[in-house]
Amino acid sequence: MKITLSDELLNKISAEVLIFPMFEEETKNLPESLKGILGREQLDLGNDFSGKLYETFLIPQLPKLLLVGAGKKSDFNARLERNVAGTAARKIIKSKLKKIAFDARIYTKPSLIIEGIGLAEFDPGIYKTKEKTSKIDDLIVLGKISASEIKKTQNLVEVTNWARSIVLEPANKITPKAMVEEAKKLARTYKFSIEVYDEKEAAKKGMGAFVGIAQGSHQPSYMLALKYIYKKEALTLGVVGKGITFDSGGISIKPSDRMHEMKMDMAGAATAIAFMKLVGELKPKINVVVVTPLTENLPGGGALKPGDVVKALNGKTIEVLNTDAEGRVVLADGLVLSQKLGATKIIDLATLTGAVIVALGSEATAALGNKEDFLESVVDSGEEVGERIWTLPIYPEHKELLRSDVADVANIPPSRGAGVIAGAVFLQEFIEKNNSWVHLDIAGTAWLDNEKPYLAKGPTGIGVRTLVNLLDKLS
Ligand code: BES
Ligand code: ZN
Ligand code: ZN
Repeated sequence: MKITLSDELLNKISAEVLIFPMFEEETKNLPESLKGILGREQLDLGNDFSGKLYETFLIPQLPKLLLVGAGKKSDFNARLERNVAGTAARKIIKSKLKKIAFDARIYTKPSLIIEGIGLAEFDPGIYKTKEKTSKIDDLIVLGKISASEIKKTQNLVEVTNWARSIVLEPANKITPKAMVEEAKKLARTYKFSIEVYDEKEAAKKGMGAFVGIAQGSHQPSYMLALKYIYKKEALTLGVVGKGITFDSGGISIKPSDRMHEMKMDMAGAATAIAFMKLVGELKPKINVVVVTPLTENLPGGGALKPGDVVKALNGKTIEVLNTDAEGRVVLADGLVLSQKLGATKIIDLATLTGAVIVALGSEATAALGNKEDFLESVVDSGEEVGERIWTLPIYPEHKELLRSDVADVANIPPSRGAGVIAGAVFLQEFIEKNNSWVHLDIAGTAWLDNEKPYLAKGPTGIGVRTLVNLLDKLS
């Protein structure tokens, strides 16, 4: 998509359609700029358009005008700025228009127009051989964005959509090995150091938790670490992503009706690796280490059985009472490895629990952690870029959720309830006391079951923008 900036009036612009976002308050008394464009004072919108959020109305005179509802003026924020642009883009794509102008008059951050359009353009029909979706070729923004901001935003969108595309890929395409290949490409391009442990090597190192889950699948599994070194003595941020390329549940097998969706169980790893791509571009003044345990969770003959016990890299023993709670088991070793590699502030991203979907649906990621200040900076980072994050507590009493009769911890709690917290309190067992850690349960936000006016259904690339924003706070 070619982007140009302009402060010219529409009649001097060669676009097929002008997108004009409009607040509810403006439909009766048209904004001056719109009057100028229309060449008249009033527009009879009747019941067709009231400015409600994400409402659209196409006025087919030439050049066409697309009104997009921006809701109430006082509610408008970064998240909605992005989504309103995305809503317009999805309408435009459906109408097969290619050259658009976008009036940025009400935007406090016009680069969100580029972000919203870029994310809205993502098409999940990657294996359709006939229906090709239309793309927007030219975008003229009537407003100001610096050249560096344009470049940074385009890059962010591209990388986020890349993460979405690998989450979307079926499990027979994106295997653990395929993920490793992507990481190797990154390491070559950006001169990251890379460590890849296959099952044998991981077992030798003591990653018994990861290896336990991996042994149910015939696909080779890998523990992967990518490192960007700024300076030896600088802070090291660790990003650990759950990379289950398919989660059948293992021996505790899932019901079949929606099992296919579990190809997305590597969304945390996809986000972590995508983030590393941006680290390579942005070259922050901190060290970053990304760790992803990459394996399928299948019920092969070698698979863990409920009741089996494994030992993690920090020496703790885990009783695997339910093989479908595999994410926390592989992350145990991932978290320990990230700290061995120097991380003192750690974020994990994991499609960990169905319970988070019950609690928050697809509107917010759950965050839990061991240090208030780090938790707060992660939540703020998300809020600022329109990725909502909601904090849940970990109380001392929640340790009870880990009780095992035979091992240090069990991977599922003895009673029902607090499913999201149970996941987090388990992971906390693998964090050293002095380190700061935030767990993000993205099971509800990494994948949309239903499309939004501004986003296709399927993978969202959640977390990439939060992490990039956090870099600024930590560097
Ligand atoms: N990958 C799933 C969680 C999940 C569910 C992700 C729905 C995306 C959408 C995870 O491995 C899992 O199966 N968790 C179990 C844990 C339970 C056995 C304690 C769950 O949530 O049911
Ligand atoms: Zn599972
Ligand atoms: Zn899973």
